[in-house]
Amino acid sequence: AAPARYEAETSPAVCSGTIDSNWAGFSGSGFCNGANSTSGYAQFTVTASAAGTATLGVRFANGTTGARPANLLVNGVTAQSPSFEGTGAWSTWVTKTLTVAVNAGANTIRLNPTTAAGLPNVDYVDF
Ligand code: GCU
Repeated sequence: AAPARYEAETSPAVCSGTIDSNWAGFSGSGFCNGANSTSGYAQFTVTASAAGTATLGVRFANGTTGARPANLLVNGVTAQSPSFEGTGAWSTWVTKTLTVAVNAGANTIRLNPTTAAGLPNVDYVDF
């Protein structure tokens, strides 16, 4: 099936920071600018039609030259630790494709930054 898009600014997504719209190219009405802190997370609730591995596309922008690493938690458990590289500009959005194991039904997908720089700006996830 075609993926569903879950915008970072749309409940039940949670952005521990601000929903901003000052950098062009985002989808929907804004993006999550998480706090520049290890507590500046972004969380999504996605629905899986079946248990198993699934593809998660995280659209982000990182206008710095330093990668921003994070833990990716599925239903509260760290599953992997993606790093969000610099994209060249805050208005240059890139989709990072990850493979995650999920349960049937609702799953929480949370990005917890692991450095004080926090997350990149996060626009949406496709799942
Ligand atoms: C800048 C930019 C923000 C970004 C922030 C960051 O302030 O305008 O959109 O979130 O840098 O470093 O995370």
